[in-house]
Amino acid sequence: SKRYTITLLPGDGIGPEIISVAKNVLNLTASLEGIDLRFQEMPMGGAALDLTGVPLPEETLLAAKQSDAVLLGAIGGYKWDANEKHLKPETGLLQLREGLKVFANLRPATVLPQLVDASTLKKEVAEGVDIMVVRELTGGIYFGKPRGFSKNENGEEIGFNTEVYAGYEVDRIARVAFETARKRQGRLCSVDKANVLEASMFWRKRVVAVSSEYPDVELSHMYVDNAAMQLVRYPKQFDTIVTNNIFGDILSDEASMITGSIGMLPSASLGESGPGVFEPIHGSAPDIAGQDKANPLATVLSAAMLLRYGLGEENAAKRIEAAVLATLDRGFRTGDIYSSGTKLVGCKEMGEEVLKSVDSQVPAA
Ligand code: NAD
Ligand code: IPM
Ligand code: MN
Repeated sequence: SKRYTITLLPGDGIGPEIISVAKNVLNLTASLEGIDLRFQEMPMGGAALDLTGVPLPEETLLAAKQSDAVLLGAIGGYKWDANEKHLKPETGLLQLREGLKVFANLRPATVLPQLVDASTLKKEVAEGVDIMVVRELTGGIYFGKPRGFSKNENGEEIGFNTEVYAGYEVDRIARVAFETARKRQGRLCSVDKANVLEASMFWRKRVVAVSSEYPDVELSHMYVDNAAMQLVRYPKQFDTIVTNNIFGDILSDEASMITGSIGMLPSASLGESGPGVFEPIHGSAPDIAGQDKANPLATVLSAAMLLRYGLGEENAAKRIEAAVLATLDRGFRTGDIYSSGTKLVGCKEMGEEVLKSVDSQVPAA
């Protein structure tokens, strides 16, 4: 049977709780699909800081590079918030993305029929929404130089960052987005701030140039402030969205809420080659960590994306996605997606119910 090594990076806060659920789901799915999965768990984020003094130990990055895919929980927490930049858990996550060159971050926001009532938007606005946010992940203001702290000409302290994109960076994320849109409804909306920012004017120019390679995809442009508004006004207008690192970060959190909860949104971070990183879009949720309250489904769905995009194991991915739907059909809900008439469960119990759903499935034809 096919053999793969998965690097597990549980991280901080709810990270270990949700990774434990996803690992069990992967294990059972793999055994049913005849796939041989090996797991190697490595420290990352605050957990790595406490253990080794750095947020992304060399051994962790090396293990990740040598494996077939990385499944990450979440990192960060109050304990490390005041740390210097290079000793923040978040810096470790950026180093991981940069180290694995995973420049394309796919964040699907799909409103499941079972969860229409969990959305804070009206049923008629939320139902049927199916958006893929393609976020540039290794460039822009997150990585641009110059950056830092200094003093201005008046001797006043300042902090500064730089939004910068090279042509090749825009072109490659645009191509991923056009390819993605082509396999969906064929509509791509590029979100920028080209009315103000040079980096966005340049972004738009390069996206337009790449669009000539994709005459079958309908390209539109939208300013980010309007996009934030349109997402809650009439989200069904969007099919695929492509945007820079920071706008993608913000808009995907916003889009997640249309689906009911940030606890539902998975992601895949992919490069030209090498292992991808798969993680929920949410953070370590320190406010509910250790209380068995976290929704593990974003991580379980990230495991499905790992199988699909990371390993090419489409049947196994579908099996997990079907099991999540079946579990919701059977009425189980964590607190974040609870609505009256459903069964409130914790993180562990949700995991056990997903396992039952995986187990009781009729194998795909
Ligand atoms: P967050 O996403 O951790 O939490 C925001 C809110 O959503 C909280 O109320 C939380 O309880 C809730 N929530 C998040 N995930 C949930 C889940 N699975 N089930 C139920 N509720 C859930 O964002 P934050 O509070 O701004 O950040 C907390 C920490 O996480 C910070 O240190 C931040 O830097 C870090 N962070 C890490 C990642 C990552 O690891 N990829 C992503 C975002 C934030
Ligand atoms: C995310 C997070 C990260 C980001 C942080 C923790 C560095 O918010 O994965 O969405 O901003 O990319
Ligand atoms: Mn984020």
